Amino acid sequence: MTTTATPAAELAVIGGSGFYELLADAERITVDTPYGEPSDAITLSEIGGRRVAFLPRHGRGHAVPPHRINYRANLWALRSLGVRQILAPCAVGSLRPELGPGTVVVPDQLVDRTSGRAQTYYERGAVHVSFADPYCAHGREAVLEAAAATGTEATDGGTMVVIQGPRFSTRAESQWYAAAGWSLVNMTGHPEAVLARELAVCYTAVALVTDHDAGIDAHQSVSQEEVFKVFAQNTERLRALVLETLDRLPKERTCGCAVTLAGLELPFELP
Ligand code: ADE
Repeated sequence: MTTTATPAAELAVIGGSGFYELLADAERITVDTPYGEPSDAITLSEIGGRRVAFLPRHGRGHAVPPHRINYRANLWALRSLGVRQILAPCAVGSLRPELGPGTVVVPDQLVDRTSGRAQTYYERGAVHVSFADPYCAHGREAVLEAAAATGTEATDGGTMVVIQGPRFSTRAESQWYAAAGWSLVNMTGHPEAVLARELAVCYTAVALVTDHDAGIDAHQSVSQEEVFKVFAQNTERLRALVLETLDRLPKERTCGCAVTLAGLELPFELP
């Protein structure tokens, strides 16, 4: 096992279903954490003069289902490499007829409907991070600018409800989420976002709609085959957007994420 003591990367991408590699000729390392092993080895590349780590959320070959991902190990490993800004592409179901398969959405809110997932590093002491705005404002801007520059249509904002899975939602659940005003449904966006915030790391979700969730069409239900197929059809477009966004992420962080932990007494040192 290789561990890296010096900062190896400042930016990271956590790839979702079907997004298992960022660049082919990358250095590959394994990182251990106090929380166990991340989903897979992490690859390191230089992109636009900046060091970028890549971690496939489900492991290569999609070995780890959403409810079994060691989110704490994944985020800790990235932070320990020096990562301070993360882009998180993910597959989502749409709760709105107008957001069809292939649409890119940059969500600005999330709702947690998961259960039983380890969702904090702070099991001792009084560390309560602000999470009113779960995604980095500057990261979101960078994605939207990159989308405009690459001619990718991207929807600015939307609430992503994160379900426990691994099953898809019932029609009633899906209709309930839509009636609440939420636009996207996914299985991995939480606790990934909050764990990044707890480590004062910027986190920006980039959602690719793979399907209309069950509540939209009275006769249709979501299938895994459909989700993977649509994601595969759009992976290159998403990769191009992510690469363009990396170039636009701030060199100096002036967002709120960077100072999340200011003034708080932490029960341990951050990596
Ligand atoms: N990921 C992709 N499509 C989804 C859906 N409909 N529900 C939950 N997670 C998803």
